[in-house]
Amino acid sequence: MGQYSNFNKKVKKATRKKDFIKGLALETEKAASEQRMGDLYQITKKLCGNKRNTKMPTSYTDKGPKPESGRFLNFAHVTFWVGNAKQAASYYCTRMGFEPFAYKGLETGSREIAAHVVKQNKIVFAFQSMLNPDVPKEFGAHLVKHGDGVKDVAFEVEDLQAIFKRAVGRGAIVVKEPWEESDENGTVKLAQVQTYGDTTHTLIDKSKYKGLFLPGYQPSKFKDPLSDMLPTIGLNFIDHIVGNQPDEEMVPVSDWYEKNLMFHRFWSIDDSQMHTEYSALRSIVVTNYEETIKMPINEPAPGKRKSQIQEYVDFYGGAGVQHIAMQSDDIIKSVTKLRERGMLFLDIPDTYYKNLRERLKKSKCKVKENLDTIQKLNILIDYDENGYLLQIFTKIMQDRPTLFLEVIQRNNHQGFGAGNFKSLFEAIEIDQAARGNL
Ligand SMILES: [Fe+2]
Repeated sequence: MGQYSNFNKKVKKATRKKDFIKGLALETEKAASEQRMGDLYQITKKLCGNKRNTKMPTSYTDKGPKPESGRFLNFAHVTFWVGNAKQAASYYCTRMGFEPFAYKGLETGSREIAAHVVKQNKIVFAFQSMLNPDVPKEFGAHLVKHGDGVKDVAFEVEDLQAIFKRAVGRGAIVVKEPWEESDENGTVKLAQVQTYGDTTHTLIDKSKYKGLFLPGYQPSKFKDPLSDMLPTIGLNFIDHIVGNQPDEEMVPVSDWYEKNLMFHRFWSIDDSQMHTEYSALRSIVVTNYEETIKMPINEPAPGKRKSQIQEYVDFYGGAGVQHIAMQSDDIIKSVTKLRERGMLFLDIPDTYYKNLRERLKKSKCKVKENLDTIQKLNILIDYDENGYLLQIFTKIMQDRPTLFLEVIQRNNHQGFGAGNFKSLFEAIEIDQAARGNL
């Protein structure tokens, strides 16, 4: 029976592959007859990408054609849909060092949604909750299905109309046609498209807006007295936001970014490189032309036991944001202060540091930070001959084993911690086993 279903799976996979190639061939013919060179280029890249059998992480230098119009600037903010925005926002303030920033709710005339926006340097998180029993309908359904999680990742852009038109012309699903919002501080242009799972991307052009956050929001009146008592954390900006996909969805999703948003592949890793005894993953990082927005896309790969990516997909009810990485100039200070505030991080076994010390001895890479401190704080190091990165992962941020956070410090190293994936997975597997999900 097992053999039969295995065979069946292989046939299905082969048929899908055949359909995929056939689809590409038709697309090529059409693009060639219409002289769409950009699309032809993307198809060639896709074909090459699918043939690539990576043993090591791959860094890509080819950015593809520069978009003729429209420009992605940076992550604008992240919107979380949660059961209780007031309390979720407070947790990120006390534990992570965010500060209350902006608010909308019944007092400001927002009758359906309450939003508590918190900020730390350039990182802006907007926690939203529904105010009424049944509206907005999709909000309630989202909460029941996914639990607390990231609903939208907003990008700040120039020439929103051009980006939106191109994306939709290439097949992106419209959530909301471009619209404008204004108040006494000016006008903001927005549009919304669907990405993986129930997650969306809002495009925002704020060039004609001088206000604090967005029209309709007021500055937070609440000043958390704990903010003055506790030292700052020093998280500066969002380095990357990772999306988990169900099996075999990674390539279509990264293709979606390449085709619709004109992003390009920046880095990738496959399961021959990234596996533990129990589980494995594949990952492709896509980025905009200027490489200011990095979006790694993961999928589980078969292993002896359940991959943590699969655990996420099971508990989130599909694809969604797995983790948000935030940059620090001084990770030792940031993590020391986060631990003092009660943040919990993955426990890394001492063997990791023993191996690391041995490996570093043989390497040209010189880590400036004190290794004893790094070990005490459970910070991970990945390096090559040119530089290194320091990173650490929080435990999950809510009851469901879904979203967690990362703090990262880069020292001339643009990777994503491939050398740490194994240790990271093993650390997560300890927690997974405790949850009965391994
Ligand atoms: Fe990461």
